[in-house]
Amino acid sequence: MPTTTWNRHHILSLADFTTTEYNTVLQTAASFQEVLSRRTKKVPTLQGQVVANLFFESSTRTRSSFELAAKRLSADTLNFAAATSSMTKGETILDTAKTYLAMGTDIMVVRHREAGVPNAIAAEMDRLGVKVGVLNAGDGQHEHPSQALLDLFTICTLIDPASPRLELLKGKKIAIVGDILHSRVARSNIWSLIASGAEVHLAAPPTLLPKLFAEYILEEAGVKNQQFIISSSPTPHSPLPTPQLFLHWQLEPALQNADFVMTLRLQKERMTAHLLPSLREYHQLFGITRTKLQLCKPNVKVLHPGPVNRGVEISSELMDDPEFSLIQSQVTSGVAVRMALLYLLGSGKA
Ligand code: NCD
Repeated sequence: MPTTTWNRHHILSLADFTTTEYNTVLQTAASFQEVLSRRTKKVPTLQGQVVANLFFESSTRTRSSFELAAKRLSADTLNFAAATSSMTKGETILDTAKTYLAMGTDIMVVRHREAGVPNAIAAEMDRLGVKVGVLNAGDGQHEHPSQALLDLFTICTLIDPASPRLELLKGKKIAIVGDILHSRVARSNIWSLIASGAEVHLAAPPTLLPKLFAEYILEEAGVKNQQFIISSSPTPHSPLPTPQLFLHWQLEPALQNADFVMTLRLQKERMTAHLLPSLREYHQLFGITRTKLQLCKPNVKVLHPGPVNRGVEISSELMDDPEFSLIQSQVTSGVAVRMALLYLLGSGKA
């Protein structure tokens, strides 16, 4: 395991993650990936510790992956699902969290449909002066740090399996395509990719990628001397020599010579207005297909956090094509990356 000290008590956002922290996560995940390739895939690292999965919103892969990660580290796991909990009797979120605290929980993995809930639980734990680490497993449209970290790990291990590290992405062109406005995955990915020195190209229809959103992203990131441009031409240009974040209201300029394409699910449950004429038109204009990938570098790879609307944001055929699709390896990487995150939050107590 890497010996770097880890000072973060909670993992709530990637907006202020440092290069050292990214590299610690990547190297730690690589060690656990090795553990997961052994015949006995379990280590005693978190023996005696309790990891509670507090999922107030639906999930398949994130919840299962955190649960498996905790079990592989020999922690005891508690699973909570809002629909079958005392919340249906009026118990509040913080009282629910304190119930799990009273049972000796060491790490809380929290997902909620409203942004800020993991932060509120973390603040309450800090106020109580207890050493409980809170991990954001997706909050509203805000952030999904573990997803972006597993995306980063998937890409970096593809480039250098022996030594995944942030700098491997420097200068790579990465397109993030789809429902950026509603996507917590996109927000977390923007922070990690900008930190890596990659060129990040966002592509969506204007309704799903408003200009104000880009201004907010840059302001929140505190990115100095970076420039974003809205391009409607196939050859975007910028007044700055090394711009890092580009916005496109068309797909083609984002795909041109891209090394990686991250597709996003249309978050129909978060849309409050009719933002698209039809799913068919959306697929025609922004759906990723093998034909459209011809604009990219020849060895381009495609990612998707899942769950997928097959035939909408990505063609069914491309999704299942192992030559281009990294979707299954993202899921596999998720376990090692989440083991790393639980280890880093929990090891201080071990
Ligand atoms: C994402 C999520 O829930 O934010 N999925 C995931 O965690 N694997 C993306 C999505 O729901 O589209």
